[in-house]
Amino acid sequence: MENEALDNIYTRRSVRSFTAEVVSREDLTKILRAGMAAPSAVNVQPWAFVVVTKRDVLDELCLQLPYAKMLDQATAAIVVCGVPDKDQRYSKNYWVMDCSAATENILLAAHALGLGAVWTAVHPEQDRVDITRTILNIPKNIIPLNVIPIGVPKNKGHITDKFKKENIHWETW
Ligand SMILES: Cc1cc2nc3c(=O)[nH]c(=O)nc-3n(C[C@H](O)[C@H](O)[C@H](O)COP(=O)(O)O)c2cc1C
Repeated sequence: MENEALDNIYTRRSVRSFTAEVVSREDLTKILRAGMAAPSAVNVQPWAFVVVTKRDVLDELCLQLPYAKMLDQATAAIVVCGVPDKDQRYSKNYWVMDCSAATENILLAAHALGLGAVWTAVHPEQDRVDITRTILNIPKNIIPLNVIPIGVPKNKGHITDKFKKENIHWETW
């Protein structure tokens, strides 16, 4: 292994199938700490996280969100939310980028802990925003960006190298 951090990045993949083993609160806290370690514009940190571990709530989200059906197997989920009015100038335009950076850190931290996770989209699909907001009692000024089901991976999974030379333009296009 060249470097542990790089190896963790290269081997992360979306995990959509989980065992029944429960994710500990300790691991969830480490994952949230990683999320909050993300960069954000002017360090405003315009994010908030709803952590769901109750089976009936995971099932309700599963039932109502069309592209998050793996919630029926996940034993936890983190909902990354944006707080666009966190400051006067920056968070309104930058909260999606900031929360996306936090989300990637969450996915990488889960993988580093031997867990599996997947980004399932909420914003900008207004129907999914409404569903998520209603189920989790999220205030009107807070926008759920995604739901991240988390669990112990059921399968080893297949890692693909997505490096593509044609996506790179050295020095100039
Ligand atoms: C913005 C965004 C939205 C996504 N939404 C979903 C989703 O709703 N459901 C899902 O199963 N996967 C979703 N994904 C995961 C992608 O399908 C996945 O990242 C992609 O296929 C590449 O696979 P990998 O993560 O294993 O590298 C989403 C990923 C991103 C970045």
